[in-house]
Amino acid sequence: MLSKFMTSEKATLRIGDTVYELPVIIGSEGEKALDIRALRAQTGLITFDSGYMNTGSCASDITFLDGEKGILSYRGYSIEDLAEHCSFVEVAYLLVHGSLPTLTEQENFSEMLGRSALLHEDMVHFFDSYPSKSPPMAILSSMVNGLCSFYPEMLLNPLENLDMMTARLVSKVRTIAAFSYKKSMGHPLVYPRHDLSYCANFLNMMFNSPVAPYEINEDVVAALNKLLILHGDHEQNCSTSTVRLVGSARVNLYASISAGISALWGPLHGGANQAVMDMLEAIQREGGNYKKYIDKAKDPADPFRLVGFGHRVYKNHDPRARIIKEACDKVLASLRIADPLLDIAKELEEVALKDDYFVERHLYPNVDFYSGIIYRAIGIPANMFTVMFALGRLPGWIAHWKEMWDDPNGRIGRPRQLYVGPKARPFVPIEERVAGK
Ligand code: CMC
Repeated sequence: MLSKFMTSEKATLRIGDTVYELPVIIGSEGEKALDIRALRAQTGLITFDSGYMNTGSCASDITFLDGEKGILSYRGYSIEDLAEHCSFVEVAYLLVHGSLPTLTEQENFSEMLGRSALLHEDMVHFFDSYPSKSPPMAILSSMVNGLCSFYPEMLLNPLENLDMMTARLVSKVRTIAAFSYKKSMGHPLVYPRHDLSYCANFLNMMFNSPVAPYEINEDVVAALNKLLILHGDHEQNCSTSTVRLVGSARVNLYASISAGISALWGPLHGGANQAVMDMLEAIQREGGNYKKYIDKAKDPADPFRLVGFGHRVYKNHDPRARIIKEACDKVLASLRIADPLLDIAKELEEVALKDDYFVERHLYPNVDFYSGIIYRAIGIPANMFTVMFALGRLPGWIAHWKEMWDDPNGRIGRPRQLYVGPKARPFVPIEERVAGK
């Protein structure tokens, strides 16, 4: 894939008296990269880039994002167009296959999703073994890993079986998510239904009950589709890089995705949507005193950060946040909910965006800032928010795993390091050792 993007342009690197030439690669949207693949062999040096702030770990044709301009697209389609016109199932197909489905392709994919929705009954029993207070992300990660035990036949020729594995994952993760919620409530499980669309089916499994039948609200279905689409992919973020790194050791798709789910759990990544709600609720309890939280976030001595603000890549508005904010207003109006947390969030955003600290550091609301308010309005509890993120991110992870697996030049991911520990020293027998030395 890379050869057609190599250019004749070269950068020069001088180390002492020796000058090295580094090739420049130009991506399809014009972004440039220094090709340092031969650097260590030529110079004996490695690059040092903790947090990978400047490191391109792969070439990818899935998602483009320009953090300075606030642009995000999947397979060339703008996120605004996809969120406006598509269902999540269409976008999942686009991410994994590279093109939007035709009507027939979409029907076939939906049919496969419908057929894959059930969990093996032995897996359903797993839920009885988890303590009722288990974090749903822990359940999700281990259950997805467990899928390889139930469908091992797919693991030998993964690319040939990828459509089936994709359908299984995208469909079963939704069932696992809904079942883990029902189990946490101590309520009877609601099984998937073939006649419902992807999002409607999820809502029905979550909220239908023998004592209070759930009525599917199309505005809620539309909002959920939008949220899942917006989370569909985000190039080499922490969890996606995890999926690729784990998969680069030739680990199967289920285990790689399970590792990605664990990475997503962190409060600096997908766990932020739950942390935003905790923060907004704390502000509400303290009588709406958001100024205190702005001051805490600005205080260099305080580790607190305004959750839902800032992004490693976006140094401009996160385009997803704008779409979510609009969807939030719409779904709350449709459900006739007036959520004081939404007012607090809007005030907080307004104040932060005018504050020099946030302006100078280019800190804007990110995708997580408003998503929790929509989930709360729909009835999804805060400890399930990151599970919802995982549901949306799943097709992106699968697409990246496939791209990584399919790359004929792919190698195991193995960063180097700069060792700063003790120099070589003589071994000390145990009876002569001094604690801490
Ligand atoms: N509140 C206050 N200050 C912040 C924040 C924030 N939310 N985010 C960054 N900063 C400051 C940071 O202290 C640093 O200041 P200084 O230059 O004075 O040391 C500067 O801005 C640059 O921050 P950084 O830590 O170098 O940025 P990063 O790229 O390493 O971190 C981030 C990105 C998303 C982890 C961070 O902005 C953050 O912790 N945000 C809050 C958590 C959050 O909302 N995470 C969800 C991210 S979007 C969903 C996803 O992709 O998973």
